[in-house]
Amino acid sequence: MTVKADPVNSNVIKLNIFQEDENGVDSFIPISFEFDSEVSTRWELEGDLQCFTVLKEGKEVGPFEDISFERPDWGRKGTQEGNWISLSHKVGEQAKVYGLGEKAGSLEKTGRSYEMWNTDPGGSYKHNEDPLYSSFPFYLVACPSGKDSSDFLGVYVNHSEPTKFDVKYRCGKDRVGIALKTNCLELFVITGETSKEIVENYAKLTGKPCMLPKWALGYHHSKWSSWDEGDFLQLAKKFRRKEIPCDALYLDIHYMDDFKVFTWDEDRFPSPEAMVEELHEMDFNLVNIVDPGIKKEIGYEPYDSGIERDVFVKDEDGEDFVGVLWPGSCVFPDFLMERTREWWSELNRDLLELGVDGIWNDMNEPAIFFGKKQVEDLISRVQEMLETGDYEGLDLRSEFEKFGKESLGTLVHRDKGGERITHERVHNLYAFYEAMATKSAFEEAPNKRSFILTRAGFPGIQSLALKWTGDNSSTWDHMEMSIPMILNLGVSGVPFAGADVGGFDGDVEPELLTRWLQLGAVLPYYRNHSALGTADQEPWRFGEELERINKKYIRLRYRLLPYLYTLHYFSHRDGVPIARPLFMEFEADQSCYHIQDEFMLGEALLIAPVLRKGRDERHVYLPYESNGKSIEWKDWWTGGKYKSGHQVVNSTLKTMPIFIREDSGVPLAESVDSTKKEPEKLFLKYNLENEVSIPVYHDDGRTRAYEDGEYFLGEFRIRKTSGSVESALEVENDGFEPFWHEVILKKD
Ligand code: GLC
Repeated sequence: MTVKADPVNSNVIKLNIFQEDENGVDSFIPISFEFDSEVSTRWELEGDLQCFTVLKEGKEVGPFEDISFERPDWGRKGTQEGNWISLSHKVGEQAKVYGLGEKAGSLEKTGRSYEMWNTDPGGSYKHNEDPLYSSFPFYLVACPSGKDSSDFLGVYVNHSEPTKFDVKYRCGKDRVGIALKTNCLELFVITGETSKEIVENYAKLTGKPCMLPKWALGYHHSKWSSWDEGDFLQLAKKFRRKEIPCDALYLDIHYMDDFKVFTWDEDRFPSPEAMVEELHEMDFNLVNIVDPGIKKEIGYEPYDSGIERDVFVKDEDGEDFVGVLWPGSCVFPDFLMERTREWWSELNRDLLELGVDGIWNDMNEPAIFFGKKQVEDLISRVQEMLETGDYEGLDLRSEFEKFGKESLGTLVHRDKGGERITHERVHNLYAFYEAMATKSAFEEAPNKRSFILTRAGFPGIQSLALKWTGDNSSTWDHMEMSIPMILNLGVSGVPFAGADVGGFDGDVEPELLTRWLQLGAVLPYYRNHSALGTADQEPWRFGEELERINKKYIRLRYRLLPYLYTLHYFSHRDGVPIARPLFMEFEADQSCYHIQDEFMLGEALLIAPVLRKGRDERHVYLPYESNGKSIEWKDWWTGGKYKSGHQVVNSTLKTMPIFIREDSGVPLAESVDSTKKEPEKLFLKYNLENEVSIPVYHDDGRTRAYEDGEYFLGEFRIRKTSGSVESALEVENDGFEPFWHEVILKKD
C-alpha cells in the first residue's frame, strides 16, 4: 500500500492511497487546480501506513486511520462487489461536521450515514431520506474549543463513484468514515483559519460560483400546469397589475409537444416568439424546462440528428439504451462526449435564439422511470407466474421502485477515445456535463450571462448553474427542512440555492404560503413552484389580507437587492456562502453550532423565520461576538434593541423577525417591479455603535463586461461623531456608474 501526499498550496494537501500496483486516479471529474510550486508551508505525514497524521507546520490537522481495501462493516447496505478503499478520519468526539451537500436532515451531520449517488426519490422526499438529487463529497469539521477560537478542517473526496460517509456513527463516535469502490483514493485536506476560509479554499479547488444575471435574484413564479399562451400572459399581466414584483416565469413540460424536448405544443403555444416578446416588453424573463430524455421517434429532429451523430448512451449490448421518461420511450445523451455536448448546445441555442432567457435542467440525475430491459424481464416473470398460477412473491410496488436504479446499472458511456465507461463511475457527473453543454449555448449568445437551473449536481456545478432542492411538500416540516439543506449546500460550495417556495407536492395552506414567501425572500434563490393538480399558490391566492403581507415581503426582497447582489458578487469572487449558518459568523459562540432555524444573510442580517403555524411570538438566539462579548441587535421592523442571548420576539403573521448586527448595515433600494428597472435611491440601513462599513457592488446585471472591470465596488463608512453621524464612500473600483442619484441614511 502507498500513501502519496502532494501539497497543492499552503492550505491544501492532496492525498492518494492505493495498492502498490496502482498509481493515479483515472477520473472524469473536470476540476482543475494548479500546484503552487513555491509552497513554503511545511507539510508532513507522521505514523505508519495504517494510521497516519497530516501535519502542517508541525500542527496535527488530520489523523487518518483504519485504512482498508475492503468494504467496512458500516458500509454494507446496498453496495456492490469490486475494489474498495475505506478509511476513517479521526475528528474527536466533540467535533461537529457540516456540508455533504443537499441532505434532508439536520445541519450538523453527526449520527448518520450518507451516500453520494444522485437520485430522484420519486415524489417528495422524507426527513433524512438519503441520497437525494445531488452529491457533494465534501465536509467541514469544526472543533469548537470553548475558548475564543475553533479549529476547522475541510475534506473533499475527489470521486464521482458512489461514496459513503459515516459521520460519528457506526464507525465510531470520534470519526468520519469514508468508503468507496475505487483502486486509488484521492482526497484533499483543506485548511484555513476560519470556516469561511475553508469554504473559500474548497471553492478554489472545485470552481467559483458563476455570476448570474441580476434577474436571477428577483422573485420567480412557476407552476407545473397545462397553461396555454393566453393563460401565461394573463399571469404576467396580473403580476404587473397588482404591482407585485416578479422577474421570471417558468414553462414546465406542458409547453412541449407530447413532452418532446426542444418542441412547442402548437395548439397551446401557437406563437412562442411573439409570446416571449410580449413577456420581455413587460420586463419578464422566461425559463423553459429541458429534460435529458429524447423521445425515440423517427422524424423527430433531436432524435434523428442524435442518431446520426451517435451521441446517445449505450446499453450493455452496444445498442442505444432505451428508458422511459415523460414522453415515453427515450434515449439519453452521453454528455461525457464532446460531440454530444456540441449537439446539445446547438439544440439549446435554438431556444435561446427564440428569446428564452434561462434553461431549467430537470431529471438530470439522470432519472429514468424504467428501462426497456427491466420491463421485458418483469413481463416474462409475470407471464411465468400466469402460466404456473403461482403469484406469491410478486411485489409490483418494489419492482417499480427498483426499476430506475437497476436500469441505470446497464448504461454504458464512452470516453474521448471511445472506450466503454460504466455508468456507475460517472453517474454523479451527468448533470455537470449537461450543464457544461447548456452553458456553451449561452456562451454563443452575444455577451449574455447564463441562467441554468439544475436539480442534480456535483462539485463544480456551482460554476455553471444554480440549484434547487427538487420536489418537496407543501408542509411546515418541509419548509423547516429546507433551511439546513440550503445552508449545507452553501457550506459545500453551492451558494445559490433555494427550495420550491410554497412547496411542490400537495395543497399549500394560506398561512404556510405566507411564511414561506417571507423565508424565500431572504434566501438566495426565490422561486415559487408547485406540482400539477395541486392548489395554485400565487401571492394573491388567499385573499387581500394575505396578499398584502405577501407583497410586502416580495417587495422587501427587491429592496434588499443591492445587498443580495453584493453578496452574490462576493460569493462569485470568493466562494463564500450568501446564507450562512450562525457559527460561520460567530465561531466563538458555542451555542451557534446547532442552530438551524435561524441563519445569517451575509455578515449583517440575522433571519429568524417563523416555521410553525399560529406563532405570534418566537424564540430567537442572538449570538455573542468573540470573547463572549454581548452586542446589541437591532430589530429590522421596530428599530428596538436586543442584547445577545435568548429572546422572545413578536412574530405575528406580518412579521418575520430580522435583526441587524451591531456595527453592521445593508444597502437598500426602492422596490421595483422587475430588475430591468433601476431604482434611483440608495438607502443605508444600519445598527451603529461605533463604525459601520457597508460594501456595495453594482454592474449592468446582464453581460460579462464586469470581467473587464466594468463594475462598481465601494464601501460606505458610517461613523458617530459628536452628536451626529458622518458617512463617506471609499471606492475600490469605479468601472461602472452606480445606479443611485441619492444616498439616504436610514435611522431605523
Ligand atoms: C419533476 C421536477 C418538478 C417538475 C416536474 C415536471 O418532478 O422536479 O419541478 O415540475 O418534474 O416537469
